Amino acid sequence: MRRKPPHSGKPRPKLSQVGAFTQMIAQDWEVGGREAQIVPGAAQAAEQHRNRLSAAIGQRDVVIFSGHAPLRNNDCYFEYRADSSFVWLTGAAIEFACLILRANGKSHDAELYLKPPARPGVNEFFSSAAYGELWVGPSPGLNDWETALGIRVTDISELASDLEKLENPCVSGTLSSDELTQYSLLATGEVDKLLSDLRMYKDAWEIEQLQAAVAASVGGFEAVAAELTHAIEIERGERWLQGTFDRHARTFGNGPGFTSIAGSGPHAPTLHWIRCDGPIIADMPLLLDMGVETYSLYTADITRTIPPTGHFSPAGRQVHDLVAKAHRAALAAAVNRAHFLDAEYAAMEVIAGGLHDWGILKVSVDEALSPDGQQHRRYIVCGVSHHLGLDVHDCAKSDSAYDAGLHLAPGMVFTVEPGVYFHAHDLTLPPELRGVGVRIEDDVWIRPDGAQQILTDALPFDTTEVEEWTQSHLS
Ligand code: GLY
Ligand code: MN
Ligand code: MN
Repeated sequence: MRRKPPHSGKPRPKLSQVGAFTQMIAQDWEVGGREAQIVPGAAQAAEQHRNRLSAAIGQRDVVIFSGHAPLRNNDCYFEYRADSSFVWLTGAAIEFACLILRANGKSHDAELYLKPPARPGVNEFFSSAAYGELWVGPSPGLNDWETALGIRVTDISELASDLEKLENPCVSGTLSSDELTQYSLLATGEVDKLLSDLRMYKDAWEIEQLQAAVAASVGGFEAVAAELTHAIEIERGERWLQGTFDRHARTFGNGPGFTSIAGSGPHAPTLHWIRCDGPIIADMPLLLDMGVETYSLYTADITRTIPPTGHFSPAGRQVHDLVAKAHRAALAAAVNRAHFLDAEYAAMEVIAGGLHDWGILKVSVDEALSPDGQQHRRYIVCGVSHHLGLDVHDCAKSDSAYDAGLHLAPGMVFTVEPGVYFHAHDLTLPPELRGVGVRIEDDVWIRPDGAQQILTDALPFDTTEVEEWTQSHLS
């Protein structure tokens, strides 16, 4: 007869209350594998960033939270992605952390509050699925971070009482309203605006990160093109290509910098087609909008619209040619000292002209381009440019970063991304153009000498060159 387990029918013992177990599991562990991992140069760049914020904000105390992984369901969490301003100011992505910059009369003293790792000897080591080392792997200690970052580090258990000593601090970063209440803090948004303004001007180290992000992304586009033949054959080819890029991004960087878009045929005109549950239609344009985020958390943002077989259909070629012409005009306008929206206006002029020539725009180009017209925007409702950096839509909290009046200036990195989006069910269109969507997106840097550099020019955008590029990567 089978013997019953000794506790059959009784509650499972709570491990943290079992003396023999807690004593036994606290002992005989080797220490190792707990170095603070930061990207070379990140700590030095972050120190400069803190100095810039200190000079800009005056003698106010600043508090920035790094955030923690959002709950997915029950006790399962999404992957952690650190708050970008926290990363910009510390050089590190550390969950459950808080940075205080204390005004000291002339500048600021930085202090970082961290949760100590849950190592052998504390119950959380084995009982906390969120940060126990047995659950999530080893993590550096407070001293390791202090050495790696050059910032004084304190146990986060001191945070609440230290926050009470601050008078009316500027609060930012990733934290919930519950956490604000817990610490009796008020998020006013003013430091967010300032950080967005400061982050608009990238330094040399940040440009290196963005160049690395672009290089990895170009590799990702090549990996995607190499899977086209297979993707055409399967039911959810879009998913396969999205997954191909994401695997590449997670292997050669931190991951995708935003949800990757692979939109085939009638899905291409949907601006943020992240569902990606459709097939790859061989003779229709395929829109790929993807970017790798580096380990330092800077991302590229690139779109190419390619013919899955290597040859555009006549309708695909017609629309791609127009977008490429608009893109050339936009790039020519996106130069040092130009206004931020000049690129968009230049692109819109070309697009409205093309739509008029094709008989789609029923009013004159002048009327469409006038502030009270805008009829051409039915086919491109989105903007043509955004800042790029730690966030794909970077500097979004600034009052001026997206203003028509903003002048492009050295250090800025932004996208130029005109498109024409002919939806499949749009009755204003001739049938052969319905379901054709094309976007071309490059990442542009204004260099310290004012010259424009297209960071993403390893990928061609001329229609014929896109065909040749695709053919050369098909396998
Ligand atoms: N990938 C989102 C965008 O292009 O803005
Ligand atoms: Mn973009
Ligand atoms: Mn994009």
